[in-house]
Amino acid sequence: MKIFIDTANLNEIKEANDMGLLDGVTTNPSLVAKEGYKDFKDLLTKICSIVKGDVSAEVLSTDCDGIVKEARELVKIADNIVIKVPLIKEGLKAVKILSSENIKTNVTLCFSPSQAVLAAKAGAYIISPFVGRLDDISYNGMELIDKITRIYSIYGFTTQVLVASVRHPMHFVEACEMGADICTMPFKVINQLVKHPLTDIGLENFLKDWNKLQNS
Ligand code: E4P
Repeated sequence: MKIFIDTANLNEIKEANDMGLLDGVTTNPSLVAKEGYKDFKDLLTKICSIVKGDVSAEVLSTDCDGIVKEARELVKIADNIVIKVPLIKEGLKAVKILSSENIKTNVTLCFSPSQAVLAAKAGAYIISPFVGRLDDISYNGMELIDKITRIYSIYGFTTQVLVASVRHPMHFVEACEMGADICTMPFKVINQLVKHPLTDIGLENFLKDWNKLQNS
């Protein structure tokens, strides 16, 4: 299970990377806008200097030619850039072309198993089903991950399943149980994975007992 951080905040990326468990980064136009960055290429250069694993950079074009043109420019930034392409017809056409040029793609905004199959057939390197946004509309997002992982294994698709739109630690745990390849999470959720109240209480008591012994 690879752990990615879902943010465009450089401090969060540095801190998660320092924990020694970061395998990659996903960004999207909304996350970049939240940080107020206008120079996207400069931001990506900085992210790629911190993280060695895959860094997803999303295109803004919605037509095949535009997506391919943007992708060819973005991959010049660093070797670990993966092009995030929306799951629309024009996006799938572009994924086919980009994969024939060995440009890695992360097909984003996936909400159904049929979309995931098409992305794999087009040659996607990563598929990003959004679980939290499905939960938001009363559909069990993790059921989608279960279906995609099962279908991909039946056909031997090599496209990696990246669980996106993660809102809490149970999304991560279920993703692990289902054998998803990657889970991208906000910094807050990565921190939540570490914490357990019994760990904190246990540690506090160990230290208290040790100090009592020293002072006896
Ligand atoms: C994935 O790559 C997306 O950036 C992300 O997970 C979207 O999450 P949200 O639904 O919390 O915006």
